[in-house]
Amino acid sequence: MKRLELFGLLKKDMGYIEDELYRSIDTHEPLIGATSMHLLKAGGKRLRPVFVLLGGKFGTYDLERLKRVAVPLELIHSASLVHDDVIDDAETRRGQLTVKAKWDNRIAMYTGDYIYARALAMVAELPNPDIHRVLSKALVQMSIGEMEQIRDFFNTEQSVRNYLLRIRRKTALLIAVSCQLGAMAADASPAVGSLLYSYGYNVGMAFQIQDDILDLCGTEKQIGKPPGSDMRQGNITLPVIYALQQPELNRLLRDEIELIRAHEDGYSTQKAIELIKASGGLAKAEQLADRYIEKALSSLDLLPDQKVKKTLRDIAHFVTRRTY
Ligand code: IPE
Ligand code: IPE
Ligand code: MG
Ligand code: MG
Repeated sequence: MKRLELFGLLKKDMGYIEDELYRSIDTHEPLIGATSMHLLKAGGKRLRPVFVLLGGKFGTYDLERLKRVAVPLELIHSASLVHDDVIDDAETRRGQLTVKAKWDNRIAMYTGDYIYARALAMVAELPNPDIHRVLSKALVQMSIGEMEQIRDFFNTEQSVRNYLLRIRRKTALLIAVSCQLGAMAADASPAVGSLLYSYGYNVGMAFQIQDDILDLCGTEKQIGKPPGSDMRQGNITLPVIYALQQPELNRLLRDEIELIRAHEDGYSTQKAIELIKASGGLAKAEQLADRYIEKALSSLDLLPDQKVKKTLRDIAHFVTRRTY
């Protein structure tokens, strides 16, 4: 799976973070060593540590200190994916077998726990208690968000607001705090920290909306996992909610979703996806993602002038254009 394309100093520093990621989970215990390394080795965009380093550019940039936030954030993200693949019964991620598929669900649960524990051990080396508070708050929200998603499976009555609250928790807040914690670990002012938080939050919302769009119209080669899994699982995402809002489609789409629930019907999954594609729901979802990106860019405008703002702007644009 592809990394983000990075240049110059950031590329060099991310190379160091990459080595430190592997080191952070290193163990003599062969099984947990192999299972925890598996997902990290498969790649990924490394978006969260990139945001930490970029946030750090607004203060005293010290890679050794930033590492203690950047590595744990990628670890926490990875651990949540190992668990998420158990919940979502996913066979592939980042173009490779998931931990649950290569080993089994039990192994995946402890692998996730182990990666979380390693993340905690590294954050603990930072003295600033605010960093710990911000991070644990985001983690609490992420768990609630994932739980809300389970609660809302197959609920065709849910509102756009409902969806937005859920993705705020499950995805956007961790991206928001990645940006903010970079600034905090570099002793930037709280005002800079909150602008970065707001940038990250809005980018994070657009990021998850785009993820949900790609799940409906991406290819397995692009997204590293089989498309259509949200629909198969009953995860009602933004384009689906928009499609359901159309009176002439509502009944048809609800019937297909009901068939998926009752029979785990692959044919109905395809039918439902076709209805959504014909509804214009994907374009409406893209428009909302674009609005979040505009908001992210306005927070960026208020930040002090730094070269790094260009990179943050590029990443914001990448988020809604990405195909992986
Ligand atoms: C996947 O996140 C889960 C979501 C929050 C949508 P990423 O798309 O950042 O996953 P990797 O790290 O690049 O694989
Ligand atoms: C990933 O969510 C897990 C979290 C955001 C905590 P999804 O289930 O929506 O993402 P993919 O599609 O598996 O990457
Ligand atoms: Mg999930
Ligand atoms: Mg998933």
